[in-house]
Amino acid sequence: MCGIIGYIGEKQAKDIVLKGLKRMEYRGYDSAGIATLNGGVKTAKCKGKVNDLKKLIQNGSGSDGKIGIGHTRWATHGEPNDVNSHPHVGHHGKLALVHNGIIENYTSIKKKLESEGLNFYSDTDTEVAAKLIENVIDNHPDLSFEKAVKLAISQITGAYGFAMIHEDYPDRILVARKGSPLLIGVGDGEMLIASDASAVAEYTDKVVYLDEGEIAIIKKDSYQVIDANDVELQKEVHELATTLEEIEKGGYPYFMLKEIFEQPKTISDCLRGRINTNTGEVTLGGLENAIDKLVNAKRIIIAACGTSWHSALVGEYLIEHLARVSVEVEYASEFRYKDPLIDENDVLIVISQSGETADTLAALRKAKSKGATVFGIVNVVGSTIARETDAGVYLHTGPEIGVASTKAFTGQVTVLVLIALKLALEKGAITKDQSKKYIQALSEIPAKIQQILDRSGQMKTISDLFTYAPNFLYLGRTYSFPVALEGALKLKEISYIHAEGYPAAEMKHGPIALIDEMMPVVVIAATDHTNDKMVSNIEEVKARKGRIISITSEENDDVSALSEFNFKIPETEDILSPLLSVIPLQLLSYYIAVNRGCDVDQPRNLAKSVTVE
Ligand code: G6P
Repeated sequence: MCGIIGYIGEKQAKDIVLKGLKRMEYRGYDSAGIATLNGGVKTAKCKGKVNDLKKLIQNGSGSDGKIGIGHTRWATHGEPNDVNSHPHVGHHGKLALVHNGIIENYTSIKKKLESEGLNFYSDTDTEVAAKLIENVIDNHPDLSFEKAVKLAISQITGAYGFAMIHEDYPDRILVARKGSPLLIGVGDGEMLIASDASAVAEYTDKVVYLDEGEIAIIKKDSYQVIDANDVELQKEVHELATTLEEIEKGGYPYFMLKEIFEQPKTISDCLRGRINTNTGEVTLGGLENAIDKLVNAKRIIIAACGTSWHSALVGEYLIEHLARVSVEVEYASEFRYKDPLIDENDVLIVISQSGETADTLAALRKAKSKGATVFGIVNVVGSTIARETDAGVYLHTGPEIGVASTKAFTGQVTVLVLIALKLALEKGAITKDQSKKYIQALSEIPAKIQQILDRSGQMKTISDLFTYAPNFLYLGRTYSFPVALEGALKLKEISYIHAEGYPAAEMKHGPIALIDEMMPVVVIAATDHTNDKMVSNIEEVKARKGRIISITSEENDDVSALSEFNFKIPETEDILSPLLSVIPLQLLSYYIAVNRGCDVDQPRNLAKSVTVE
């Protein structure tokens, strides 16, 4: 979704801003723009990619200057076109502003400004904010820039991360945060601001995260952060763990492929220091102080969106099966608006790769407001969700850049296995010996994923045969059902093929009507105890001429014998099977998308981090 970057220092701002915009391309966007200050404000912006913006600047629209802000836009108000792209300027052309989020009352502000004689050139809520700020400056010449901005944004409802520059204040960038993340990259004689750490990681490893309601004045040698009550804050400076290598493709054609192949390592990283194969114990530092809440919870609710919602479903099966606690899984977007029954005896677990998903954050806040304890399972260190939860566990899988989530899913499932085992041990629902067996199996998962990846060519061959299928059906039972959903989502996201994931038995209640010789049916039969039932479901598909592609564990010959194509995954415990069975599905969607010429890392209309509702 939208990305913000800004620079102030001694270098040409446009070089750093353009590089930062490139780094944020993975978030998903439809247009890009930049504003620099060199005497006056100069902007260059266009629909399309950052490379289009670069060309525009080379062709003369760009500008020099040692202070600048840039933006990648994912359209919410107004279609993606050159005019609606950010930055937006005020009516005097002195202020340039970029914005992430949505201004909910922009229509009423716009009407009021129009009644005062101002005209608007775009359809965006952001232009309204730019003009509102310049209008407040006009009407309150006595106020400092920051005070005027504060007064203006006090009239705004909705969510924003703003970054702005102003011709009369050429020594600063001003930023303001409410509901949309922003951070300051602290350099030596230079400062950066960004909505995403990946945009600044190349220049500094020191970052300051802004919190809700704060504004900051960024100069080249200093920064000042002020809270909503006008109190100047001493903010903690965090060390950024992200390395440049992690945010580059490292020889792979796409980030998604790199991230699929990284999974043996990312799962090892996720497990490091957390499991003891000799004792069967699980150590989760982030939960130690709050484990009692989890143990005593009468009910656990897990809320998430997208792929994280699929791992939440795996979590439901895991926690109910191992720890014998009732678990409900909610779409965060529904949970937040449905007047949920939740109180101080409940625990909410939110799962989010980015830690910034607007609906998941709102679910977290809703649960907290009702007295529940909230745990987080998050990848991005220092993200808003990570900071607002009462306790949590990081995935430690490194930055995920491909829009279609892969290594975060397996990281989330790994963490859920650890939480389920920890809880089960604490509650006495399993013995240490049982836990030891699972932990031993878990420690073998990275090597087993590697075995699957070593046979990726087999999935490529299958993909080549089904590249132009118009529809796909994915079926699974118990632990393989969320994997079926995830496999279908991957295919939809990056190859734009319609795909449905279904619990295998539910197929009879609708999707079976779709099955004919044109319909590939991907069957995930990786759990032993439901094998016989899957065999019956496959027979039902075959009877209607559906084409079976199956993912089965090594010893499952019943299903492979019935399949037109079969991919074997190594044997493991049923509860761990999603960590293996999802890998061939990730490969299937990747190869099909590449065959279809799709932009795998930046699929149309999608955003990596959905920071608006
Ligand atoms: C977007 C991304 C998905 C992701 C979902 C939830 O839709 O494209 O890959 O699963 O958001 O994101 P989160 O960061 O909260 O896990």
